[in-house]
Amino acid sequence: MKKLLDLQALRKNFGQQVVLNNINFSLATGEIIGLIGPSGAGKSTMIKTMLGMEKADDGEALVLNHRMPNRRILGELGYMAQSDALYETLSGLENMVFFAQMKGLTRAEIPEAIDHAAQVVDLSDHLNKSVAGYSGGMKRRLSLAIALLGNPKLLILDEPTVGIDPALRRKVWRELRQLKQDGVGILVTTHVMDEAELTDKVGLLLDGKIMAFDSPDNLKSTYAVNTIEDVFLKAEGELL
Ligand SMILES: Nc1ncnc2c1ncn2[C@@H]1O[C@H](COP(=O)(O)OP(=O)(O)OP(=O)(O)O)[C@@H](O)[C@H]1O
Ligand SMILES: [Mg+2]
Repeated sequence: MKKLLDLQALRKNFGQQVVLNNINFSLATGEIIGLIGPSGAGKSTMIKTMLGMEKADDGEALVLNHRMPNRRILGELGYMAQSDALYETLSGLENMVFFAQMKGLTRAEIPEAIDHAAQVVDLSDHLNKSVAGYSGGMKRRLSLAIALLGNPKLLILDEPTVGIDPALRRKVWRELRQLKQDGVGILVTTHVMDEAELTDKVGLLLDGKIMAFDSPDNLKSTYAVNTIEDVFLKAEGELL
């Protein structure tokens, strides 16, 4: 198994606040890792720092064996930020074409790639609508579809299923499992503990550190609880 992400002793401070305190973390091909932790724990910061969108204060982050920022590597992975970065005045389809071109898909590849990604998130019937008229969940779905374009080997998804209804959430997770079978590595943050149960490994970010990093089953037995939600609460010291 090849490492797609490799973080070594990564540190990030904002002023006096230590957000990432010596983070060691890796993700291999065919692995789905769920990153969980309380709001403000630093999940998005960890992602932005590894991608070079925030500058690390110490340590190293390799993404597809390269130090970031690296424009070419950014084009090779599927990244979905926590806040949607879409062109509101363009239609869903125009957004997808724009990002497909940015990722270097050829004119011949684009239509099929868009059809498939739009179908995964159930947006095929809304592609001609302007994004300004999309609901919050539709924007999330469009961002996810964009991340899937170009068959990236690595997906980094920051709360991809916020605002997505249960049926579609299942469909999205079926797609993620399928991508995993094809060898794609996936890092996904979530506050939905049912989703964390579907991952191969869960990383719990707390107080600037990865406090626990193991399969959902191992974590449950280590913490002697029945759900990942209880692992989370027990680690936080809030399980009564
Ligand atoms: N650009 C910034 N400048 C200053 N502080 C920041 C900045 N970005 C994040 N922070 C702080 O870093 C901490 C971690 O934020 P981050 O967004 O990474 O948390 P998170 O785990 O992704 O939370 P959530 O689950 O709410 O998305 C927070 O205390 C936040 O206020
Ligand atoms: Mg976040």
